Amino acid sequence: MALARALLAAVSSVARHSGSKISIAQRGLASSAIVNGVPVEVHNDSGSKRVVVTKSLPGDRWLQYLVNADCRVEVCKHPDIILSNATIKQLLGTKCDGVIGQLTEDWGEELFEALRQAGGKAYSNYAVGYNNVKVHEATQRGIPVGNTPGVLTETTAELAAALTLAAARRVVEADVFMRAGHYKGWLPTLFVGQLLQNKTVGIIGAGRIGAAYARMMVEGHKMNLVYYDPYPNKQLEEYIRLYGELLRHRGEPPVAVRRVETMEEVLQEADVVSLHCNLDASTRHLINAKRLAMMKKDAVLVNAARGPCIDEAALVAHLKANPDFRCGLDVFEDEPAMKPGLADCPNAVIVPHIASASMWTRSGMATLAAANVAGVLSGYPVWNKVDILPFVEKPMSSVPQAAPSIVNAKELGLKLVADA
Ligand code: DGY
Repeated sequence: MALARALLAAVSSVARHSGSKISIAQRGLASSAIVNGVPVEVHNDSGSKRVVVTKSLPGDRWLQYLVNADCRVEVCKHPDIILSNATIKQLLGTKCDGVIGQLTEDWGEELFEALRQAGGKAYSNYAVGYNNVKVHEATQRGIPVGNTPGVLTETTAELAAALTLAAARRVVEADVFMRAGHYKGWLPTLFVGQLLQNKTVGIIGAGRIGAAYARMMVEGHKMNLVYYDPYPNKQLEEYIRLYGELLRHRGEPPVAVRRVETMEEVLQEADVVSLHCNLDASTRHLINAKRLAMMKKDAVLVNAARGPCIDEAALVAHLKANPDFRCGLDVFEDEPAMKPGLADCPNAVIVPHIASASMWTRSGMATLAAANVAGVLSGYPVWNKVDILPFVEKPMSSVPQAAPSIVNAKELGLKLVADA
C-alpha cells in the first residue's frame, strides 16, 4: 500500500512537471519515466524547476549544481544517438525551465521557440564550440546560451598530438597489418614514416587549444613553429623563445617561432599542419584542393576543430594522389558520415570526434553546462572569465555564485561578476 502511494506520488509529480501523460518505475535515487512518449531518467523529483538534459552526462558534480538550484532534472534516454527536433520538442513539453543540449542538435528558431513557449530561460551547449546553435534566435527570445570553455584545452591538444604521431608514424596501418596476421618478420622498409624531430609544425589558429598543441609539438619534438592567426599570441611566442634559449644553453639547436601574414605560408613551409580555428563562413573549406596542392607532398594535416573547415572530397582526392601525404581527422564534414573513399585511404587516421574525451574534461564540461543553466535559473551574474576552474574543482560549498560562460551575455545585458 505504502509502495503504491509512493509510486502514485512520483507519477503525479512527473505529470505536474511535464504537463503530460507518463508512466514511472522507481530505480535507486533516480527514477525512470516516459514523458510524452520519451523515456527519461528523473533526478530530484520534487525540484521546482524542470531542466531537460538531452543525453546522459559523465560524472555527478553537474547534477549537484542543478539539484542545489532546486531543479528537477530529466535526462533523455531516447535510443536515437542524434535526436530529431521533433523528439526534442516532445521532450521539452509545455513546461521546461532550462536545457543542456548537444553539439549534434540543431538549436535554431524551431527549438528556441519551443523552449520559449515552455517558459524556458536557459540553454547550455555541452561543448565549447557552438556552431550548432543560432545564438541570435536564442537572444531574440531572451534565452541565455552557455558553453564550456577552459576544460577542453589540454585534452583536445593531446588528441591532436596523438593524431599527428599516429599519422606520421603510420600507427594505425601497422596495427591493422598486425591484426590481419601479415607480420612475418622485421624488414628495413616496413611502415617507414616521418620523423618529426627538428621539423616545422604549423598551426592555423593560435587560441588556447592551438597554443597547447603547439607547445606539445615544440617541447616534445623540438619542432619549429610557424603560425597563422589574425592576432599574435605573444605568450606562446615568449614561451617558445625561452625554450629555444634553454636548448641553445645546452648546446642543442634552438627552436624558433614565427607568425606569418598568410595561411599559405604555413601550408608551404610546415611538415605538419594542424587546424585550431572556429567554424564560421570564413573558415568553411579553408583547406581546399588549391591549398592542399601547396602543402609538402609528405606533409601531415590534422583536424580536431570542425569537419567543414576541410573540403573533405578534395582531401580524399589528394590522399589518393599522394600516398605519402597523411592526415589525422577527429571531425568530418558531414558528421557522422564520411565522404566516399575516405575510409579506404590507408594514409588517413580517422577517429569519431573524441578529442575532448578524457574523463576530467567530459565531466568538467558537464559541470560547466549545468552551472550555466543553474546559474541563470538562480539569477546569478555571469562569470565569463578565462579561469573557470573554481566551478570544476572547488568544494561545492564555495563555488562561485555565477553562470560560468554565457556567450550572449552582452547582447542580453546580463550582469557580469565584475560589475555585480
Ligand atoms: C566542443 O566542445 O566543441 C568539442 O568539439 C567537443 O569535443
